[in-house]
Amino acid sequence: MSDITIPVNIPGANYKVIISPGLLERIGSIISEVAPSDKALLAVDKQITNTHGKLAQSSLRGAGFETTIIELVANEKYKTLETAQSVYQTMLAASLDRKSPVVALGGGIIGDTAGLAAATYMRGVPLIQVPTTLLAMVDAAIGGKTGVNFPLPTGGLGKNLIGAFWQPRAVLIDPLTLNSLSARNFRCGLGECVKYALIADANLLDFLSSNAQQILDLDPELITELIERCVRIKVRIVEQDEREAGLRALLNLGHTFAHAIESIHELDIAHGEAVSIGLVAAMKCAIETQRQSQQDLEKLTKVLKTLGLPICLENPVDEQRLLDAMRFDKKTSQGKLRLVLPCGPGQAEIVDDLPIEIILRAWDSVGAKAV
Ligand code: GLY
Repeated sequence: MSDITIPVNIPGANYKVIISPGLLERIGSIISEVAPSDKALLAVDKQITNTHGKLAQSSLRGAGFETTIIELVANEKYKTLETAQSVYQTMLAASLDRKSPVVALGGGIIGDTAGLAAATYMRGVPLIQVPTTLLAMVDAAIGGKTGVNFPLPTGGLGKNLIGAFWQPRAVLIDPLTLNSLSARNFRCGLGECVKYALIADANLLDFLSSNAQQILDLDPELITELIERCVRIKVRIVEQDEREAGLRALLNLGHTFAHAIESIHELDIAHGEAVSIGLVAAMKCAIETQRQSQQDLEKLTKVLKTLGLPICLENPVDEQRLLDAMRFDKKTSQGKLRLVLPCGPGQAEIVDDLPIEIILRAWDSVGAKAV
């Protein structure tokens, strides 16, 4: 299979997303072209240091990079300023300078945290995203959002509250790295793929529905096609609206609900699972406001279930607590809840004035309760 190259054209930051099975072995030479330096930092998810990490390290060393490794824990609990600080300390100890690339190898937590460190160390150094989870391949690694979580005044962690836009010099995607991913983690990425189908490509929903089993079995061609379709959607959006002044906000479909769920960490719900429930809640709001029909909800829940994703909370959660957490999301605007709702096949829109009662009923429909 030849490389799939998708250019990203953002003012001041033109780079490429390259998708190719087996690409990990070749990242060193690509990085030496886009971020020439004699030193590099490899920030790697601890769980893959001895597998993908070794391959990445030998590719970087083969291309002449003296490579320092920092292992990070892929857990939202550790996606913090303290972890970013440990990255700065490692970079300083290794005498990395302003030219030294930070190579983030892992899922969104690694990419976001190492990305924030790259965005801020010496006012910014080159960042290379090498995502190894489906979620990071189709979403987190693309478009330059970096950040960490931060404690909320209401308790719990506010998602990505501290961060920066920092475009990578390249995004290098090797779909073969998905082979080592847990089934649960892989399904989480599928939640984001369903989101893309709802906001931009109604045919993608049918593609996911008709090929669900082969996708879950990691058929390399179908997976590569799925990643390419989603990356192209994300790139198209980010090119038009890097800083989320409008269009990019559509990517938050389901996310305001999801971030509220995730802020209650005793629930132990992963991001993609929370997004899946959030998509159902957003669809429910869309039905109540005559944007979508009951059939659209049924189609959505069928696809999500076929892909093994949750459509409601397992145990009842206090709806008021969820509503409060929603208000701290970055997507609130002047105190109003800003939601993205589906409004047609492959279409979504931003809605600012949704009555709270509708949002509460949507929470109830996915298993929240008044206590
Ligand atoms: N994950 C949403 C965005 O990149 O804008």
